[in-house]
Amino acid sequence: MTASNYDPAAYGEVLAADYDALYSTIPDTEEAVSCLAELAGDGSVLEMGIGTGRLALPLRSRGVEVHGIEASPAMVAELRKLPGGEDVPVAVGSFADTEVADKGFSVVVLALHTIFGLPTQDEKIRCFANAERHLGEGGVFVVEGTILDVGAFRAGQAVIPRFTSAERVELQVLRYDAATQSVATTNVHLSSDGVRLNGFSNAYASPQELDLMARLGGLRLRERWGSWTREPFTATCSRHVSVYARP
Ligand SMILES: C[S@@+](CC[C@H](N)C(=O)[O-])C[C@H]1O[C@@H](n2cnc3c(N)ncnc32)[C@H](O)[C@@H]1O
Repeated sequence: MTASNYDPAAYGEVLAADYDALYSTIPDTEEAVSCLAELAGDGSVLEMGIGTGRLALPLRSRGVEVHGIEASPAMVAELRKLPGGEDVPVAVGSFADTEVADKGFSVVVLALHTIFGLPTQDEKIRCFANAERHLGEGGVFVVEGTILDVGAFRAGQAVIPRFTSAERVELQVLRYDAATQSVATTNVHLSSDGVRLNGFSNAYASPQELDLMARLGGLRLRERWGSWTREPFTATCSRHVSVYARP
């Protein structure tokens, strides 16, 4: 995918109906919510790519004020169906440059692999700069990212059984392009309802590349963990939770 054909709404528009079924199995949502609530203290949280509110709704239940930026109206529609989902202010647009009226957030967060949906370095840098604009005094931008496992690919291709149950299987069919560090993913959902396909593309950046982009956006790495429970980030970690702040 190139910058010219990038549609920030595309991921959510194809996945909205399936998203909660697929992502309800993420094992550490509770830990992510606890970590974010702790970082927010008495302040508020802005979630970039808020989606259907997997993090935002439990944060609200803990009394944390949460706002969102979300490109996909279909994802926002799913959020609105859930208890409390009507009450979360969401600005529709790309988190690379969409601003919300309120600023001064204690935490801006971008979870899972979502930052890699931005196809170019320039867009990722704009995203860091946009997060910086929304931070209050002492605020932090928390980015969760996956580490691209190049070894999982054979001749640039891989098939990973992602979710399996008696009623439902999801396979990910992945194509890796070393020249652009990007992975095109097709999710193949198999169930008694039939077969459904949806696809998206991620342009990966290493943690160190993200740190450089953060600098260009006015932020510096403050901490990096291997999980939401703040395990040390080591060579064996498959993802990271990185905390950026103004220098
Ligand atoms: C993997 S989902 C994560 C949703 C939610 N944050 C969570 O943790 O469950 C990514 C979300 O980001 C949204 N998204 C992707 N690219 C975006 C962009 N450039 N601007 C705004 N939202 C975007 C998608 O529509 C989707 O709702």
